[in-house]
Amino acid sequence: MKQQLEQIKNQAIEELKSAADLKAVDDVRVKYLGKKGELTAILKQMGGLSPEERPIVGQLANKIRAEIEETLTETLATLKDKETEQRLAAETLDITMPGKKTAEGGLHPLSIVLDDMIDIFRSMGFDIVDGPEVETDYYNFEALNVPADHPARDMQDTFYLAEGLLLRTQTSAAQIRTMETRKPPIRILCPGRVYRADEVDATHSPVFHQIEGLVVDKGITMCDLKGVLEQFAREIYGPETKVKFRPSFFPFTEPSVEVDVSCSECGGVGCRVCKGSGWIEILGAGMVHPRVLSACGIDPEEYSGFAFGIGLDRITTTRYKISDIRNLFENDLRFLEQF
Ligand code: DAH
Repeated sequence: MKQQLEQIKNQAIEELKSAADLKAVDDVRVKYLGKKGELTAILKQMGGLSPEERPIVGQLANKIRAEIEETLTETLATLKDKETEQRLAAETLDITMPGKKTAEGGLHPLSIVLDDMIDIFRSMGFDIVDGPEVETDYYNFEALNVPADHPARDMQDTFYLAEGLLLRTQTSAAQIRTMETRKPPIRILCPGRVYRADEVDATHSPVFHQIEGLVVDKGITMCDLKGVLEQFAREIYGPETKVKFRPSFFPFTEPSVEVDVSCSECGGVGCRVCKGSGWIEILGAGMVHPRVLSACGIDPEEYSGFAFGIGLDRITTTRYKISDIRNLFENDLRFLEQF
């Protein structure tokens, strides 16, 4: 029996030495020390020994169990260390490796220019307001002194929707909505999309952008209009910019003007950007027509105002020398990434 015990011990230790992982170690434990293990089986036979032999064999069996257990614990520890080492090695990070760049989005050129314009007008005390793109005939035309039979309706090819509704052809509709809900002094800016049934070409698009401005207060004159719009033009195009006011006609302003700025590309000599004229038309403006004020419940005897409508696409294409307006709407990343 002693021999058997020694043999079990040697075998168990031998097997532990060659155990490659935690599972193999546990298998050895079950095989020798488990309830149905080999050592346990031997101990069960101790009943057949003489009373003198029993304690000696018992002692030996306990010693062997202890030895196997000790080796088992050591082997477990070594294997665990090894595993940790392997895991750490696999997790090693090379912090000197260059990172992967994620593609960065950017603002659309129209948004860049609009943000700049909003900054300029905000600094002059303007509020930003919004208006619906689906408008009623009343706000888009009627209240702006363009009755149904007015020839000026021809100037703007309108997308008509259901009865009385249309896609706004001008942000000027926002003037009326503002004057109906606010009392003077009023100083607002309304940027947004507008729609006209135009054929698409390098300078026309059925969807484009305007920025409407409106100022109403006591004692507002044409000088205020000139001052504000000259200031705006110089901030957008640079301090040397020359500004020209040409007489024009809009049904909702009297008098009306169109505003040209000296071409920022050639300084006024004539080039591709200004099509040789030296000037770029950027907006329409005028003193708010007394009839428009009256229609909104503002007494034209007491108050006066000026309004303007700026073409955002025009400002953007001239600033960035974009020769085809379609670039602004096609969203080709190769184009947009340049801004
Ligand atoms: N709504 C005009 C257009 O689309 C532009 C304009 C002209 C707006 C004069 C105004 C203005 O507010 O006073 O052509």
